[in-house]
Amino acid sequence: MSSTDSLQKLTIAMPKGRIFEESLVFLKQAGVVVEDDLKDSRKLIIPVPDFQLEFILAKPADVPTYVEYGVADVGVVGKDVLLEEERDVYELLDLQIGRCRMMVAGLEEYQPSANPRVATKYPGIASKYFRLKGQQVEVIKLNGSVELAPLIGLAERIVDIVSTGQTLKENGLVELEHICDITTRLIANRSSYRMKSEAVESIAQKFLQVIPAVEIL
Ligand code: PRP
Repeated sequence: MSSTDSLQKLTIAMPKGRIFEESLVFLKQAGVVVEDDLKDSRKLIIPVPDFQLEFILAKPADVPTYVEYGVADVGVVGKDVLLEEERDVYELLDLQIGRCRMMVAGLEEYQPSANPRVATKYPGIASKYFRLKGQQVEVIKLNGSVELAPLIGLAERIVDIVSTGQTLKENGLVELEHICDITTRLIANRSSYRMKSEAVESIAQKFLQVIPAVEIL
């Protein structure tokens, strides 16, 4: 009997794309082999029966929702999404990958106006940031390519994540204010954390084993 036979099945929600691919590399290093060739796959549920695991692939913003409602026991998701969605989940580990920063950005020659507008994919984070600063702004929700907004006069500033800084640079924008640092987190459903503690612990241990910088939260 292998050590995984006694564990309860664990469902893991992950965003499709880079976080999933990176996580698979780490899990492979920790001995978890996912048989499927997932490169061009459109499958949304990936069972890994040998390890009592199942991945569900979701939009990033939905990962905390699946975990809060318990249809996924754990999830891997960026801190930006956690701050924006404010779901009731446990944050277990800071995986220290996907590092970027949440910034206010705009044109270098930006001049504050009487009715300042801020465009962002993160209206919750932006509203809270400016509220805490005591600044009244109109927050405009966009779904991507936020850097366009100051270039075409929709908003003077944007709130967005910056990683390499290339997107800002290529669009003639500069970083104005640092809101917070962002990394990828392992989160857990509150009841799974208690009822499936061994399985949750086992997956957390696998990440801890292969990413030396991981922080326990
Ligand atoms: C993200 C983010 C920035 C860009 C930052 O966008 O919203 O636009 O990446 O990365 P950089 O600093 O390395 O250039 P994403 O690629 O997710 O696309 P989107 O604009 O369509 O949301």
